[in-house]
Amino acid sequence: MPLDSLFEPFRLKSLSLPNRIVMAPMTRSFSPDGVATAEVAAYYRRRAENDVGLIVSEGTGVSRPASLNDPNVPRFHGASELLAWKQVIDAVHAAGGRMAPQLWHVGSARNPASDWKAPGPIDSPSGLSSPGKRFTEPMTEEAIADAISAFARGAADAKRLGFDCVELHGAHGYLIDQFFWAGTNAREDHWGGATIAERSRFAVEVVKAVRAAVGEDYVVILRLSQWKQQDFTARLAETPAEMEAWLQPLSEAGVDIFHCSQRRFWEPEFEGSELNFAGWAKKVTGKATITVGSVGLSGEFVAAFRGEASKPASLDELIRRYERGEFDLVAVGRALLNDPEWVRKVRTGRTGELKEFSREALGVLV
Ligand SMILES: Cc1cc2nc3c(=O)[nH]c(=O)nc-3n(C[C@H](O)[C@H](O)[C@H](O)COP(=O)(O)O)c2cc1C
Repeated sequence: MPLDSLFEPFRLKSLSLPNRIVMAPMTRSFSPDGVATAEVAAYYRRRAENDVGLIVSEGTGVSRPASLNDPNVPRFHGASELLAWKQVIDAVHAAGGRMAPQLWHVGSARNPASDWKAPGPIDSPSGLSSPGKRFTEPMTEEAIADAISAFARGAADAKRLGFDCVELHGAHGYLIDQFFWAGTNAREDHWGGATIAERSRFAVEVVKAVRAAVGEDYVVILRLSQWKQQDFTARLAETPAEMEAWLQPLSEAGVDIFHCSQRRFWEPEFEGSELNFAGWAKKVTGKATITVGSVGLSGEFVAAFRGEASKPASLDELIRRYERGEFDLVAVGRALLNDPEWVRKVRTGRTGELKEFSREALGVLV
Protein backbone atom coordinates (compact mmCIF):
# COMPACT_ATOMS: atom_id res chain seq x y z
CA MET A 1 0.00 0.00 0.00
CA PRO A 2 1.43 3.48 -0.77
CA LEU A 3 2.72 5.30 2.30
CA ASP A 4 2.27 8.83 0.95
CA SER A 5 -0.52 9.74 3.36
CA LEU A 6 1.81 9.24 6.35
CA PHE A 7 4.06 11.88 4.84
CA GLU A 8 1.50 14.68 5.03
CA PRO A 9 2.62 17.53 7.29
CA PHE A 10 1.00 17.94 10.71
CA ARG A 11 0.34 21.34 12.26
CA LEU A 12 -1.02 22.12 15.70
CA LYS A 13 -0.53 25.44 17.52
CA SER A 14 3.19 26.27 17.31
CA LEU A 15 4.15 22.70 16.32
CA SER A 16 4.80 21.92 12.68
CA LEU A 17 5.90 18.43 11.63
CA PRO A 18 6.93 17.32 8.15
CA ASN A 19 5.24 13.91 8.48
CA ARG A 20 3.18 11.71 10.81
CA ILE A 21 5.93 9.48 12.19
CA VAL A 22 6.98 9.88 15.81
CA MET A 23 9.88 8.13 17.51
CA ALA A 24 8.38 6.54 20.64
CA PRO A 25 10.02 7.35 23.99
CA MET A 26 12.53 4.63 24.88
CA THR A 27 14.66 4.47 28.01
CA ARG A 28 18.24 3.68 27.03
CA SER A 29 20.25 4.09 30.27
CA PHE A 30 23.27 5.51 28.47
CA SER A 31 23.47 8.73 30.52
CA PRO A 32 25.96 8.18 33.40
CA ASP A 33 24.99 10.08 36.57
CA GLY A 34 21.84 11.26 34.84
CA VAL A 35 23.58 13.46 32.24
CA ALA A 36 22.93 12.79 28.52
CA THR A 37 26.22 12.33 26.65
CA ALA A 38 27.40 13.43 23.18
CA GLU A 39 26.65 9.85 22.02
CA VAL A 40 23.05 10.25 23.17
CA ALA A 41 22.79 13.56 21.26
CA ALA A 42 24.22 11.88 18.14
CA TYR A 43 21.75 8.98 18.49
CA TYR A 44 18.80 11.39 18.39
CA ARG A 45 20.42 13.49 15.65
CA ARG A 46 20.64 10.40 13.40
CA ARG A 47 16.84 9.96 13.65
CA ALA A 48 16.36 13.66 12.78
CA GLU A 49 18.69 13.32 9.76
CA ASN A 50 16.64 10.38 8.54
CA ASP A 51 13.19 11.97 8.39
CA VAL A 52 11.56 11.12 11.73
CA GLY A 53 8.74 13.70 12.03
CA LEU A 54 8.87 14.09 15.83
CA ILE A 55 11.33 12.51 18.25
CA VAL A 56 10.07 11.88 21.78
CA SER A 57 13.02 11.43 24.12
CA GLU A 58 13.51 8.56 26.51
CA GLY A 59 11.77 9.22 29.84
CA THR A 60 13.72 11.92 31.72
CA GLY A 61 13.26 12.60 35.44
CA VAL A 62 11.48 15.64 36.86
CA SER A 63 12.92 17.44 39.89
CA ARG A 64 11.84 15.27 42.80
CA PRO A 65 14.47 13.38 44.79
CA ALA A 66 13.31 9.91 43.71
CA SER A 67 11.76 10.61 40.31
CA LEU A 68 14.05 7.97 38.75
CA ASN A 69 15.29 4.56 39.86
CA ASP A 70 18.33 4.15 37.60
CA PRO A 71 21.45 6.37 37.76
CA ASN A 72 22.02 5.99 34.00
CA VAL A 73 18.67 7.48 33.02
CA PRO A 74 18.90 11.20 32.25
CA ARG A 75 17.44 13.81 34.59
CA PHE A 76 15.59 16.89 33.36
CA HIS A 77 16.72 19.21 36.15
CA GLY A 78 20.03 20.60 37.35
CA ALA A 79 22.48 22.79 35.45
CA SER A 80 24.70 20.14 33.83
CA GLU A 81 21.72 17.90 33.03
CA LEU A 82 19.83 20.70 31.26
CA LEU A 83 22.95 21.84 29.44
CA ALA A 84 23.29 18.29 28.09
CA TRP A 85 19.65 18.38 26.92
CA LYS A 86 20.33 21.74 25.25
CA GLN A 87 23.08 20.00 23.26
CA VAL A 88 20.62 17.26 22.29
CA ILE A 89 17.93 19.64 21.03
CA ASP A 90 20.49 21.80 19.21
CA ALA A 91 21.86 18.70 17.44
CA VAL A 92 18.35 17.60 16.45
CA HIS A 93 17.45 21.07 15.18
CA ALA A 94 20.71 21.33 13.22
CA ALA A 95 19.61 18.19 11.36
CA GLY A 96 16.13 19.65 10.70
CA GLY A 97 14.34 17.54 13.33
CA ARG A 98 11.66 18.23 15.96
CA MET A 99 11.77 16.89 19.50
CA ALA A 100 9.89 16.66 22.82
CA PRO A 101 11.38 15.49 26.10
CA GLN A 102 9.26 12.88 27.89
CA LEU A 103 8.91 14.11 31.49
CA TRP A 104 8.86 11.15 33.84
CA HIS A 105 8.37 10.30 37.47
CA VAL A 106 8.56 6.58 38.21
CA GLY A 107 6.70 6.88 41.53
CA SER A 108 7.00 3.63 43.46
CA ALA A 109 8.05 1.49 40.46
CA ARG A 110 11.17 -0.44 41.40
CA ASN A 111 14.02 -1.39 39.13
CA PRO A 112 14.82 -5.02 39.97
CA ALA A 113 18.14 -4.81 38.14
CA SER A 114 19.42 -1.93 40.22
CA ASP A 115 20.78 -1.78 43.78
CA TRP A 116 20.37 1.99 43.64
CA LYS A 117 19.04 3.60 46.82
CA ALA A 118 16.54 6.43 46.49
CA PRO A 119 18.18 9.74 47.55
CA GLY A 120 14.93 10.88 49.18
CA PRO A 121 11.40 9.76 49.93
CA ILE A 122 9.73 7.64 47.27
CA ASP A 123 6.62 9.34 45.90
CA SER A 124 3.52 7.23 45.54
CA PRO A 125 -0.19 7.86 46.16
CA SER A 126 -0.62 5.11 48.77
CA GLY A 127 2.85 3.64 49.28
CA LEU A 128 1.89 0.65 47.09
CA SER A 129 4.18 -0.62 44.33
CA SER A 130 1.43 -2.93 43.08
CA PRO A 131 -1.98 -3.92 44.49
CA GLY A 132 -1.60 -5.00 48.13
CA LYS A 133 2.19 -4.46 48.19
CA ARG A 134 2.80 -1.60 50.60
CA PHE A 135 6.43 -0.64 51.07
CA THR A 136 6.51 3.08 51.73
CA GLU A 137 4.39 5.95 53.06
CA PRO A 138 1.68 7.68 51.00
CA MET A 139 2.68 11.09 49.65
CA THR A 140 1.96 14.09 51.84
CA GLU A 141 0.06 17.13 50.52
CA GLU A 142 3.39 18.98 50.30
CA ALA A 143 4.99 16.18 48.26
CA ILE A 144 1.99 16.09 45.92
CA ALA A 145 2.12 19.86 45.41
CA ASP A 146 5.85 19.73 44.70
CA ALA A 147 5.50 16.79 42.30
CA ILE A 148 2.85 18.71 40.33
CA SER A 149 5.10 21.74 40.25
CA ALA A 150 8.10 19.56 39.22
CA PHE A 151 6.29 18.61 35.99
CA ALA A 152 5.51 22.29 35.38
CA ARG A 153 9.13 23.31 36.02
CA GLY A 154 10.27 20.62 33.60
CA ALA A 155 7.85 21.79 30.92
CA ALA A 156 8.98 25.40 31.35
CA ASP A 157 12.60 24.24 30.98
CA ALA A 158 11.71 22.24 27.86
CA LYS A 159 10.28 25.36 26.25
CA ARG A 160 13.17 27.56 27.40
CA LEU A 161 15.77 25.11 26.00
CA GLY A 162 14.01 25.18 22.61
CA PHE A 163 12.22 21.80 22.53
CA ASP A 164 9.32 21.91 20.06
CA CYS A 165 6.73 20.49 22.47
CA VAL A 166 6.62 18.41 25.65
CA GLU A 167 5.30 14.94 26.56
CA LEU A 168 4.15 13.91 30.06
CA HIS A 169 4.51 10.22 30.94
CA GLY A 170 1.15 9.27 32.39
CA ALA A 171 1.29 5.60 31.34
CA HIS A 172 2.63 2.12 32.20
CA GLY A 173 2.17 2.15 35.99
CA TYR A 174 4.44 5.09 36.91
CA LEU A 175 3.55 7.98 39.25
CA ILE A 176 0.75 9.64 37.27
CA ASP A 177 -0.71 6.25 36.39
CA GLN A 178 -0.36 5.10 40.03
CA PHE A 179 -2.88 7.84 40.84
CA PHE A 180 -5.21 6.74 38.01
CA TRP A 181 -5.21 3.08 39.00
CA ALA A 182 -7.37 1.83 41.91
CA GLY A 183 -4.77 -0.92 42.40
CA THR A 184 -2.19 1.64 43.58
CA ASN A 185 -4.39 4.56 44.66
CA ALA A 186 -6.29 3.72 47.84
CA ARG A 187 -6.36 7.28 49.15
CA GLU A 188 -9.46 8.42 50.96
CA ASP A 189 -8.82 12.14 50.46
CA HIS A 190 -9.53 14.18 47.32
CA TRP A 191 -6.62 12.57 45.43
CA GLY A 192 -8.35 9.18 45.49
CA GLY A 193 -11.88 7.88 45.00
CA ALA A 194 -14.02 5.12 43.56
CA THR A 195 -14.16 6.53 40.02
CA ILE A 196 -11.52 7.11 37.38
CA ALA A 197 -12.63 10.76 37.20
CA GLU A 198 -11.76 11.20 40.91
CA ARG A 199 -8.42 9.40 40.60
CA SER A 200 -7.55 11.60 37.60
CA ARG A 201 -7.32 14.68 39.76
CA PHE A 202 -3.54 14.48 40.20
CA ALA A 203 -3.02 14.24 36.43
CA VAL A 204 -5.49 17.08 35.81
CA GLU A 205 -3.56 19.30 38.23
CA VAL A 206 -0.27 18.32 36.54
CA VAL A 207 -1.67 19.22 33.12
CA LYS A 208 -3.10 22.54 34.38
CA ALA A 209 0.24 23.47 35.98
CA VAL A 210 2.12 22.51 32.82
CA ARG A 211 -0.28 24.49 30.65
CA ALA A 212 0.11 27.55 32.91
CA ALA A 213 3.91 27.20 32.67
CA VAL A 214 4.16 26.93 28.87
CA GLY A 215 1.29 29.13 27.66
CA GLU A 216 -1.52 28.36 25.24
CA ASP A 217 0.45 27.96 22.03
CA TYR A 218 2.90 25.23 23.14
CA VAL A 219 1.82 21.67 22.42
CA VAL A 220 1.41 19.36 25.44
CA ILE A 221 1.26 15.61 24.79
CA LEU A 222 0.04 13.20 27.48
CA ARG A 223 0.99 9.53 27.21
CA LEU A 224 -1.54 7.12 28.69
CA SER A 225 -2.11 3.37 28.76
CA GLN A 226 -4.69 1.01 30.12
CA TRP A 227 -2.00 -1.64 30.77
CA LYS A 228 0.54 -1.39 33.55
CA GLN A 229 3.90 -3.05 33.88
CA GLN A 230 2.52 -4.41 37.18
CA ASP A 231 -0.48 -5.96 35.35
CA PHE A 232 -0.78 -6.15 31.58
CA THR A 233 -4.50 -6.92 31.82
CA ALA A 234 -5.38 -3.89 34.00
CA ARG A 235 -7.87 -1.42 32.58
CA LEU A 236 -8.73 2.10 33.71
CA ALA A 237 -11.73 2.40 31.37
CA GLU A 238 -13.95 -0.63 30.72
CA THR A 239 -16.44 1.27 28.56
CA PRO A 240 -16.43 4.27 26.20
CA ALA A 241 -18.32 6.25 28.89
CA GLU A 242 -15.54 5.55 31.40
CA MET A 243 -12.97 6.55 28.83
CA GLU A 244 -14.77 9.83 28.36
CA ALA A 245 -14.88 10.37 32.14
CA TRP A 246 -11.12 9.75 32.24
CA LEU A 247 -9.99 11.78 29.23
CA GLN A 248 -12.41 14.70 29.01
CA PRO A 249 -11.15 16.47 32.18
CA LEU A 250 -7.56 15.99 30.96
CA SER A 251 -8.49 17.44 27.60
CA GLU A 252 -10.14 20.44 29.27
CA ALA A 253 -7.10 20.90 31.52
CA GLY A 254 -4.96 21.48 28.43
CA VAL A 255 -3.80 18.26 26.74
CA ASP A 256 -3.35 18.82 23.00
CA ILE A 257 -2.40 15.30 21.92
CA PHE A 258 -3.16 11.99 23.62
CA HIS A 259 -0.40 9.42 23.06
CA CYS A 260 -2.28 6.15 23.45
CA SER A 261 0.05 3.32 24.38
CA GLN A 262 -0.90 -0.18 23.27
CA ARG A 263 1.39 -3.14 22.77
CA ARG A 264 -0.34 -3.97 19.44
CA PHE A 265 -1.94 -1.00 17.68
CA TRP A 266 -4.52 -3.13 15.85
CA GLU A 267 -6.27 -4.43 19.00
CA PRO A 268 -9.79 -3.02 19.47
CA GLU A 269 -10.30 -1.10 22.70
CA PHE A 270 -13.91 -2.14 23.34
CA GLU A 271 -16.13 -4.90 22.03
CA GLY A 272 -18.34 -4.05 19.06
CA SER A 273 -15.93 -1.66 17.33
CA GLU A 274 -12.62 -1.97 15.51
CA LEU A 275 -11.37 1.34 16.95
CA ASN A 276 -8.15 1.14 18.94
CA PHE A 277 -7.26 3.23 22.02
CA ALA A 278 -6.09 6.20 19.93
CA GLY A 279 -9.29 5.94 17.88
CA TRP A 280 -11.50 6.10 20.96
CA ALA A 281 -9.43 8.87 22.58
CA LYS A 282 -9.88 10.96 19.44
CA LYS A 283 -13.58 10.16 19.29
CA VAL A 284 -14.36 11.05 22.93
CA THR A 285 -12.17 14.18 23.18
CA GLY A 286 -11.92 15.49 19.61
CA LYS A 287 -8.19 15.95 20.24
CA ALA A 288 -5.34 14.67 18.08
CA THR A 289 -3.96 11.25 18.99
CA ILE A 290 -0.85 9.13 18.49
CA THR A 291 -1.09 5.36 18.10
CA VAL A 292 1.76 2.97 18.92
CA GLY A 293 2.52 -0.72 19.36
CA SER A 294 4.32 -3.16 17.07
CA VAL A 295 4.27 -0.84 14.06
CA GLY A 296 6.37 -2.46 11.33
CA LEU A 297 7.28 -5.48 13.49
CA SER A 298 5.78 -8.95 13.87
CA GLY A 299 6.01 -9.25 17.67
CA GLU A 300 5.38 -6.88 20.62
CA PHE A 301 7.95 -5.29 22.91
CA VAL A 302 7.42 -7.13 26.19
CA ALA A 303 8.05 -10.46 24.45
CA ALA A 304 11.07 -8.81 22.81
CA PHE A 305 12.50 -8.02 26.28
CA ARG A 306 12.15 -11.75 27.06
CA GLY A 307 14.19 -12.59 23.98
CA GLU A 308 11.63 -13.15 21.22
CA ALA A 309 12.86 -11.74 17.89
CA SER A 310 10.48 -9.60 15.76
CA LYS A 311 10.60 -9.55 11.97
CA PRO A 312 9.74 -6.59 9.72
CA ALA A 313 5.97 -6.55 9.06
CA SER A 314 3.57 -4.90 6.63
CA LEU A 315 2.27 -1.37 7.28
CA ASP A 316 -0.96 -1.91 5.29
CA GLU A 317 -3.30 -2.24 8.29
CA LEU A 318 -1.76 0.85 9.90
CA ILE A 319 -2.22 2.91 6.74
CA ARG A 320 -5.79 1.70 6.27
CA ARG A 321 -6.65 2.88 9.79
CA TYR A 322 -4.71 6.16 9.45
CA GLU A 323 -6.46 6.99 6.16
CA ARG A 324 -9.88 6.54 7.68
CA GLY A 325 -8.94 9.06 10.39
CA GLU A 326 -8.59 6.77 13.40
CA PHE A 327 -5.48 8.68 14.66
CA ASP A 328 -3.25 11.56 13.55
CA LEU A 329 0.27 10.35 14.27
CA VAL A 330 2.05 7.00 14.52
CA ALA A 331 4.79 6.26 17.04
CA VAL A 332 7.45 3.71 16.23
CA GLY A 333 9.59 2.24 19.00
CA ARG A 334 11.91 -0.70 18.45
CA ALA A 335 12.09 -0.39 14.66
CA LEU A 336 13.61 3.08 15.16
CA LEU A 337 15.77 2.04 18.13
CA ASN A 338 17.31 -0.58 15.88
CA ASP A 339 17.66 1.46 12.72
CA PRO A 340 17.95 5.27 12.44
CA GLU A 341 17.10 4.99 8.73
CA TRP A 342 13.82 3.11 9.23
CA VAL A 343 11.59 6.00 8.05
CA ARG A 344 13.66 6.67 4.97
CA LYS A 345 13.78 2.97 4.10
CA VAL A 346 10.01 2.46 4.33
CA ARG A 347 9.33 5.68 2.43
CA THR A 348 11.59 4.78 -0.46
CA GLY A 349 10.51 1.14 -0.57
CA ARG A 350 13.85 -0.32 0.58
CA THR A 351 11.94 -3.02 2.45
CA GLY A 352 14.61 -5.65 1.82
CA GLU A 353 16.94 -3.58 4.02
CA LEU A 354 14.62 -3.49 7.06
CA LYS A 355 16.05 -5.25 10.10
CA GLU A 356 14.80 -7.85 12.55
CA PHE A 357 14.61 -6.64 16.14
CA SER A 358 16.30 -8.70 18.82
CA ARG A 359 17.03 -7.72 22.40
CA GLU A 360 20.78 -7.41 21.75
CA ALA A 361 19.83 -4.05 20.16
CA LEU A 362 19.10 -2.71 23.65
CA GLY A 363 22.78 -2.83 24.55
CA VAL A 364 24.00 -0.38 21.90
CA LEU A 365 23.20 3.14 20.68
CA VAL A 366 23.19 2.91 16.88
C1 LIG B 1 13.91 -0.24 25.30
C2 LIG B 1 12.56 0.38 25.52
C3 LIG B 1 12.42 1.41 26.44
C4 LIG B 1 11.18 2.03 26.64
N1 LIG B 1 11.09 3.11 27.48
C5 LIG B 1 9.95 3.84 27.54
C6 LIG B 1 9.91 5.09 28.21
O1 LIG B 1 10.91 5.61 28.75
N2 LIG B 1 8.72 5.75 28.23
C7 LIG B 1 7.60 5.25 27.64
O2 LIG B 1 6.54 5.88 27.69
N3 LIG B 1 7.62 4.06 26.98
C8 LIG B 1 8.77 3.38 26.89
N4 LIG B 1 8.82 2.23 26.13
C9 LIG B 1 7.64 1.81 25.33
C10 LIG B 1 7.75 2.37 23.90
O3 LIG B 1 7.61 3.78 23.88
C11 LIG B 1 6.66 1.77 22.98
O4 LIG B 1 5.40 2.14 23.46
C12 LIG B 1 6.75 0.26 22.87
O5 LIG B 1 8.09 -0.14 22.61
C13 LIG B 1 5.85 -0.26 21.76
O6 LIG B 1 6.29 0.21 20.50
P1 LIG B 1 7.09 -0.75 19.48
O7 LIG B 1 6.28 -2.00 19.40
O8 LIG B 1 7.12 0.03 18.20
O9 LIG B 1 8.45 -1.00 20.05
C14 LIG B 1 10.04 1.58 25.93
C15 LIG B 1 10.19 0.51 25.02
C16 LIG B 1 11.42 -0.05 24.79
C17 LIG B 1 11.54 -1.14 23.73
